[in-house]
Amino acid sequence: MECLSIRGPAPPLIGRLRVPGDKSITHRAILLGALADGTTEIRGYLTGDDCWRTAAICRALGVEVEGWGSPVLRVHGKGLRGLREAEGILDAGNSGTSLRLFSGVLAAQPFLSILTGDASLCRRPMGRIIQPLRQMGASIWGRAGDQYPPLAIRGGPLRGIRHASPVASAQVKSALLLAGLYAEGPMTVVEPAPSRDHTERMLRGFGHPVEVAGRTVTVPPARSLAAVPVEVPGDFSSAAFFLVAACLVPGSRLTVTGVGLNPTRTGLLEVLRTMGAAIEVQGSREVCGEPVGDLLVTAGPLRGVSVGGALLPRLVDEIPILAVAAAAAAGETEIRDAGELRVKESDRIAALAGELGRLGADVAERPDGLTIRGGRALAGTSCSSRGDHRVAMALAIAALVARGGTRIADSACIRTSFPDFVPLLRTVAPAADPQVEAEDQNA
Ligand code: S3P
Repeated sequence: MECLSIRGPAPPLIGRLRVPGDKSITHRAILLGALADGTTEIRGYLTGDDCWRTAAICRALGVEVEGWGSPVLRVHGKGLRGLREAEGILDAGNSGTSLRLFSGVLAAQPFLSILTGDASLCRRPMGRIIQPLRQMGASIWGRAGDQYPPLAIRGGPLRGIRHASPVASAQVKSALLLAGLYAEGPMTVVEPAPSRDHTERMLRGFGHPVEVAGRTVTVPPARSLAAVPVEVPGDFSSAAFFLVAACLVPGSRLTVTGVGLNPTRTGLLEVLRTMGAAIEVQGSREVCGEPVGDLLVTAGPLRGVSVGGALLPRLVDEIPILAVAAAAAAGETEIRDAGELRVKESDRIAALAGELGRLGADVAERPDGLTIRGGRALAGTSCSSRGDHRVAMALAIAALVARGGTRIADSACIRTSFPDFVPLLRTVAPAADPQVEAEDQNA
């Protein structure tokens, strides 16, 4: 196992950096590329393990994916009906997006598919896709009474339905919209609050109409999708770690360039500004139907904030780093309506309370979130990612403002979404000396 060590407190973070491509958009570009007619060229894509799983599943289904790791990834589409039965089990690793989005596609293919993942993914809820896919006519089963992976899918004809999802989840919405491409009649998903809309935007880019009315999204059945070049913007969720680092480390002035600023993703920007952060958007532009800009952050004091309701899906992946900002802020922060965090790559509510608590933060669990009393001085110590990439990176940023050395156990998971995190951290905070070490199993 690997462990990440960091020494705080770090001197000011100064300069410019670019974060890797957006994970959600990369998944969708590979997957839609596989289903399109023609070759989809993808630039700026994320080479993290999660997206590699999506590419590997495409390959197992007979799609040629060429150039992984080079500047341009080429997906030679097979058309909507050109996938072939895989010879083995499809392994999504740690990636909920791969497993859920492919379930929607495979529910419509005339063959058998078995999908699984790592120990964490095999504990994550799948009833939320199995039930509506069955209502569409799919034959799909999961472990433990259709709750968890592995999933078995015998694909076949589907019919469009109107599904009111009890959770605001882009993975659920996307799985059903993708299944809807193959259904008889239109497919409608209604969400309790809007989740990220990259699938909708990219389907339009590939030439398929999507109707959006508030929280209701409808797709008609598709005859074909047309390959288009895709340029993936920087991942706001990866940028978030550096944005908060620059807010917290006194004297910092940092620009993160080329960041995706889709409003369904940027809830953290609004929350940080409410907390008093100085973040400026520069050079706003649009790339492949997604808003993009550069973010200039200047360090300054933060105050506690109350977060909940419809904002939650717009910062669902940023709660770990928001908790770090809250621990450093003056006053109390309350995070409500975040029960979904219990079923992410780890139980993030328990992980943040436990691990930030080890560093000296006052973080209390609520059933649906956290109460954080900020302003306590943090002290470096041993802690663990609990196998969760975003917990690992949030702890790394907390370590920059903690006094003394911090060791984050089980840090290799960072590669799922941000393979260059440690080298980038080293460029902007060399004095904190971030180092990946082999973990001493006997320590
Ligand atoms: C994602 C959706 C979110 C998010 C995940 C990526 C996506 O999950 O947490 O990191 O790409 O659709 P949910 O849909 O389960 O909220």
